[in-house]
Amino acid sequence: MLRMPFSIRKAVFPAAGLGIRFLPATKAQPKEMLPLVDKPIIQYGVEEAIASGVENMIIVTGRGKNAIEDHFDVAFELEAFLTARGKAELLAEIRKVSDLINVAYVRQGEPRGLGHAVLMAEPLVGDESFAVILADDVIDATPPALAQMIKVHEEVEGPVILVERVRPEDISNYGVIAADPIRPGVYRVTDMVEKPPREQAPSNLAIIGRYILTPDIFGALRATREDHSGEIQLTNGLKHLLKDRPVYACEVTGVRHDTGNKLGFLKAVVYFAMQRPELAGPLREYLKTVT
Ligand code: UTP
Repeated sequence: MLRMPFSIRKAVFPAAGLGIRFLPATKAQPKEMLPLVDKPIIQYGVEEAIASGVENMIIVTGRGKNAIEDHFDVAFELEAFLTARGKAELLAEIRKVSDLINVAYVRQGEPRGLGHAVLMAEPLVGDESFAVILADDVIDATPPALAQMIKVHEEVEGPVILVERVRPEDISNYGVIAADPIRPGVYRVTDMVEKPPREQAPSNLAIIGRYILTPDIFGALRATREDHSGEIQLTNGLKHLLKDRPVYACEVTGVRHDTGNKLGFLKAVVYFAMQRPELAGPLREYLKTVT
């Protein structure tokens, strides 16, 4: 099939982390399956990829992540049950999940870092540019965050990192870029620093959970040393890549929720519940009564 040289067909979802911050909830279930209202976190990311024109999902899983595979699989008995009960709307909702996506899984034997997880996807990605979506960052945006990045990728013809301006007191929680502006919202990255102390941060542009990467990232990751905790960090792989080619950043337009921490997760639940007409009113009334 003919394809545009800078089109993105594949999205990698690293989902092999241990989810320590959500224990004990994540002892026996992946954090990617925790629901925001009634939809698992990872499904928001998959729907964003589909809405951005990406057709193939590659999910990097680890121990105890079977629920993710089951979620995107056909649930034969459940479908038969819903059909028999005439629950057409729910049936359509369930089918949408398994019908829409073409999904492949690859295993990361042990959680050796985000960079290592991306490296695990190499045989399935092959020699083409691809997206990486960290499902923890749920982004409500029109056009979708990934579509915003693909547009920039087509323009700059290189890797694109998604960034967001964060408050100075929050910057030390993120990877941070030093960058030269190209035009409003688009930058050429000159350096990256992982979790800098506030006063040493090169900017307030924090790296958030979306990347468009070129296949040379795999070589860069292989050449990247483990950090002090024995993990291969994607940011360090990108720093390696930066020596050989320009890397760009795109500032997101939209609302991002970091569902990887408890407060961010709770805010996201309220945010998405407020978008549901049947929930918004009663929830608002309830929240007024909580002291
Ligand atoms: P996090 O830093 O959020 O780690 O990883 P985590 O393990 O998921 O959560 P905590 O910090 O223990 O609570 C960022 C993303 O990278 C993936 C995670 O699944 C998450 O999507 N990841 C991280 C891997 O796939 N493999 C790893 O070895 C590490």
